[in-house]
Amino acid sequence: MKTLIKNGTLVTASDTFRSDILIEDEKITRIGLNLEVDPDQQIDVTGKLVLPGGIDPHVHLDLPMFDTVSSDDHYTGHKAAAFGGTTTVMDFVVLDSPLPEGERAVVREVDFHYSVDKWMKMAEKAAIDFSFHMNLTKFDEKLAKEIPSLMKMGIQTLKVFTAYNRRLRIDDGSIFKALQIARDNGMLVMAHCENGDVIETLTNQALAEKRTSPIWHALTRPAWGAVEATLRMAAMAEQADSPVYIVHMNAGGEVDMLEYAREHGVKVMGETCPQYLFFTMDHLARPDGAKWICSPPMRTEADNARLWEGLNQNILQTVGTDHCPFFYNGTKPILYEGSEVAIPGKELGRDDFTKIPNGLPGIQDRMPILWTYGVNAGYITPNQFVAYMSTNPAKIFGLYPRKGALVPGADADIVIWDPEKQVKYGVIHSHQRTDYNLYEGWELTGYPEKIFLRGKLIVDGDEWKGKSGGGKFLKRSEGQVL
Ligand code: URP
Ligand code: ZN
Ligand code: ZN
Repeated sequence: MKTLIKNGTLVTASDTFRSDILIEDEKITRIGLNLEVDPDQQIDVTGKLVLPGGIDPHVHLDLPMFDTVSSDDHYTGHKAAAFGGTTTVMDFVVLDSPLPEGERAVVREVDFHYSVDKWMKMAEKAAIDFSFHMNLTKFDEKLAKEIPSLMKMGIQTLKVFTAYNRRLRIDDGSIFKALQIARDNGMLVMAHCENGDVIETLTNQALAEKRTSPIWHALTRPAWGAVEATLRMAAMAEQADSPVYIVHMNAGGEVDMLEYAREHGVKVMGETCPQYLFFTMDHLARPDGAKWICSPPMRTEADNARLWEGLNQNILQTVGTDHCPFFYNGTKPILYEGSEVAIPGKELGRDDFTKIPNGLPGIQDRMPILWTYGVNAGYITPNQFVAYMSTNPAKIFGLYPRKGALVPGADADIVIWDPEKQVKYGVIHSHQRTDYNLYEGWELTGYPEKIFLRGKLIVDGDEWKGKSGGGKFLKRSEGQVL
């Protein structure tokens, strides 16, 4: 099957130019002006932009949390991603134990293969391409020896946490060893940077003083903890002679640390997320503040501004979403694909912020919101937009140039972007399976129009043409340090 996309303006991470694109089956085979071919179908995209499919390096689908689960699964989350222009997502495998529930608390044996198999099973519904990171939430010598086997499974990344004491955090010595193992095996450590001990102390104090409203989520997780942990992580990476990638950077001081470390030759890279560019702690003080609860929390306008500067000056490398949606009111069903769905959500913590599931929706919002409020607003260029949304994640996470590139031989993951389309955004446009949207009522100019996944049209305007099972697991290899 030959599809000719004609008269487009291609936007890559480095250039903008007029060109046609020929797709043959799943691949881009030719790029050039006035291609002479006899295609099976031709799509004229005069006046439109043509971008490589978005790559979201940070999502949580089907993630169990507290007494519930993130409300998008590996189908609904993928479908929402596609409507926003994203054709590849990377999820985090929870490191789990094959033991039955009762025994798990006693024997804390965990298993990479068991955990990956479980995630693979859930991802059988995949509607776009996907890959996995492994949460390294336990560390011992036995597990350390098994880390290289992840690379054979195509899982090139380990996420470590300096927060979530007694749940996900491992100590700095173990993180340092993980960095060394990653270095020796072409893998990459991704780090959640906050200060777990300070958070634990402040949270206990807040609860003892009956300070339980959502704003206390932010007040018990100070920005200095993120700043300090970011520098600590960069320093450990340097001492291990390993690269490191800091996820969900949220504080201006983290950008300062990233800049400082990079200027000193440390192989540290940073990701921010849309929510940290637009919202502040004041949102948590609203009556519906629970909608903005995620970890790390929102900060201040000065932090928003420094993060924008970090993107503008290429100090940061990617924009992921940390998509981890919950219902605001999970007792009231919404309609999703014609069926009523209700999943317990933020209401679980009505009387105690520590019980509010942490996370926000954003998988569909990322590209449309960043186009209007990033590109049109003059913070980043269209080429930087493509770099942050697609090309840089592909390079860092070992998918380039199969993904993240408009070149012959690449997968034909293509977004036709209408730069003129005006949309009043919100739940009405969103396929994210939750009952609210953080960008409700925001005016957008520029919106994805058609989305191709490996040559197949999966979104055509408002129409969903993709399917459960249409996405493929991507085995990743060693990435680049940007
Ligand atoms: O609140 C968040 N971000 N939930 C997902 C887990 C994480 O730390 O990324
Ligand atoms: Zn995290
Ligand atoms: Zn996350």
